[in-house]
Amino acid sequence: MSSTSSRRPLALVTGASAGIGYEFAQLLAINGFDLIATGRSEHTDQAATDLARHGTDLARHGTDVIPVRADLAQPEGVETVWRAVEEAGRPLDAAVLNAGRSIGGAFLDTDLDDELSLIQLNVASVVHLAKHVARHMAGNGRGRILITSSVSATLPTPYETVYGPSRAFTRMFALGLREELKEHGVSVTCLMPGATDSNFHARAGMNNTAFGPSMKKNSRKDVARQGFLALMNGHAEVVGGNAATKRTAIEHRFLPETYKAARHACKAKPRP
Ligand SMILES: NC(=O)c1ccc[n+]([C@@H]2O[C@H](COP(=O)([O-])OP(=O)(O)OC[C@H]3O[C@@H](n4cnc5c(N)ncnc54)[C@H](OP(=O)(O)O)[C@@H]3O)[C@@H](O)[C@H]2O)c1
Repeated sequence: MSSTSSRRPLALVTGASAGIGYEFAQLLAINGFDLIATGRSEHTDQAATDLARHGTDLARHGTDVIPVRADLAQPEGVETVWRAVEEAGRPLDAAVLNAGRSIGGAFLDTDLDDELSLIQLNVASVVHLAKHVARHMAGNGRGRILITSSVSATLPTPYETVYGPSRAFTRMFALGLREELKEHGVSVTCLMPGATDSNFHARAGMNNTAFGPSMKKNSRKDVARQGFLALMNGHAEVVGGNAATKRTAIEHRFLPETYKAARHACKAKPRP
């Protein structure tokens, strides 16, 4: 998977072992990037092997993919990932801070430690990793960062009450950092997917809600493609998904938070 020194650009993708992050990593590989591809599960190594093969088949030259298994809900996991970047001994050209998760269910029932761990992953690890990435890229005078948020950043999300605010944090963090890093030659892009066909809702324990398997969701390939184009063009933010998803995000600018909360509760409340 990893080989000799390469002259190709290098990208870091967190959450590259599955879902949107895997598709994102594949697009980067096809477009000539070597990769540091992170995940938490044992599937991370297999995903890296697949990414190396895809990149090589489609770009017709060898793609180096370094897999890193680390739990980003732990500060040590973030340091493990950053060590892998430093050990690569090359400038990091792109960073996709994408790993994240939700927790479905009534707040009265959900587990506090699990929710604190979600905040650690969705919020603290993004700040922690961005600190390393931003200093590294600003030092090089160039780089592109994409931070995954969500359409859930634009409304209260009852029955996944901690998740939406965590993504609202990442959205405003990305947009603030973008402004600061402009003068250092580094662009920051925020990706806001709508509901997307990945393991995300099943992992959140939301199969018994309207977000379960029967919901028609956005294609993760389309979401990743839109994010990739926004990253490469240095756009501030992009809503990932189809026309209806993009319309919803616009509509959310004008609707009262209380109305949006009630509407989300109808979809996210577990069915008996
Ligand atoms: N799917 C949606 O509907 C949707 C909508 C809006 C925003 N998003 C955002 O999109 C991002 C990607 O989600 P997805 O849909 O691709 O979900 P997914 O298919 O569940 O993939 C999540 C990725 O994050 C990794 N991850 C999860 N917990 C981790 C931890 N503690 N430490 C390190 N890595 C961890 C997973 O690694 P392993 O598989 O190896 O455990 C996996 O690679 C998330 O930030 C999510 O908030 C998703």
